[in-house]
Amino acid sequence: MKNCVVVGAQWGDEGKAKITDLLAQNADLIIRYQGGCNAGHTVVANGKTFKFHLIPSGILYNNKICFIGNGTVILPEYFQEEIDGLKRENIDLSGLKVSPLASVTMPWHTEIDGYSECTAGKGKIGTTKKGIGPTYTDKMQRIGLKIGDLYSETALSEKLDIILPIKNKQLKEIYNLRTYTKEEVLDLCKKYAEIFRPYVCFDWQEMLRNAKKEQKKILFEGAQGVMLDVDFGTYPFVTSSNPVGGGAAVGSGYGPKEIDEVIGVAKAYVTRVGEGPFVTELDDEIGDLIRNIGHEFGVTTGRARRCGWFDAVTMRYACLVGGLTSIALTKIDVFDNFDEIKICKAYKDIRNNQIYHDYPTDVFIHKYLEPVYETMEGWCENITRVRKYEDLPRNCRRYLERLEELLETPISIVSVGPDRDQTIFKN
Ligand code: IMP
Repeated sequence: MKNCVVVGAQWGDEGKAKITDLLAQNADLIIRYQGGCNAGHTVVANGKTFKFHLIPSGILYNNKICFIGNGTVILPEYFQEEIDGLKRENIDLSGLKVSPLASVTMPWHTEIDGYSECTAGKGKIGTTKKGIGPTYTDKMQRIGLKIGDLYSETALSEKLDIILPIKNKQLKEIYNLRTYTKEEVLDLCKKYAEIFRPYVCFDWQEMLRNAKKEQKKILFEGAQGVMLDVDFGTYPFVTSSNPVGGGAAVGSGYGPKEIDEVIGVAKAYVTRVGEGPFVTELDDEIGDLIRNIGHEFGVTTGRARRCGWFDAVTMRYACLVGGLTSIALTKIDVFDNFDEIKICKAYKDIRNNQIYHDYPTDVFIHKYLEPVYETMEGWCENITRVRKYEDLPRNCRRYLERLEELLETPISIVSVGPDRDQTIFKN
């Protein structure tokens, strides 16, 4: 196995968990590089169902190091809950490490996230309300706390003297929310320090350097998806971090040369939760059908996901900015009973009939765009037991080959069901 990044190539929920789980088998070191407990994925192992938000699911294998990198934001109570769940199942947590440079989500971050969503009116993003945006905001404003700060009482006290007056002024005057005393925050931080103590990895430099020297296999685990990237996604309807392949270098402690390949996980159709443009969204019975067959309901929030046809315009863009070297296409079996399947290969602006082959990054014009579809014949047979590419029905292969042509990127993995073995490695 080469050092590999797994990223979502759409708006999250593409089935990354299964692909990450498969690749984690051959990895020595798994690094989660961005996001926080806004992500959610379910892994079934030994007949038990595990729900993960932050901890790499690779923890279910023995002898792997699972490192939560500097690019992440961590809500301590959620982290604790996840740890407790794994302990209850007797999962060995000795390989779990947390970067002291990861950011801490404080109670005011979740409060501000909730407040902002409730009062934003048309500007509502539809966030997971887990404090993600406000934590990253403070990191960038240089008034955030990092996990490492929790272990130095004097430094923490000095930092709070700077942070708290600013934060309390914001909380009171902008948000009309409760303020915090220094004593209260110091108490909280003591509690948080205990939560992270067994896992915080102060010798992460040595760990990463050794892994590199010993040519350990590294899997960089992305959360959310390229179209939710704060730089390249459908801004402002995005998350606050960089899921793109390049984000793996920034959020892990390794440089870009450690990355050999970037696998973008995409569904054979598209889903989205939260607000924001979605040109191929189906507000009809086909959308309902995809939602029901594909079980498209959120792990973190339980929300019904918006569903639509495969959007090759957006995906070609995701291949470029995400740095994808190949694609893992999931949930293609959802189309097993479809007579025909559509692919959006261009957008048309209904105001002037202008055709877009390249993704227009000004999302405010997306409401004027309609998809230009190409229709392909379905295969109308059950492919969930197929294990070799050559054994897929001809129309299914045609569909995959057409996608590769439109995306100018190879499909390396095809997933035909939720189980590990329902996977076709193309090359
Ligand atoms: P936030 O990341 O909670 O700030 O939410 C920002 C946007 O990203 C919202 O539209 C969320 O629904 C979306 N989002 C965040 N995490 C995920 C995820 O893991 N899957 C799908 N959408 C997500």
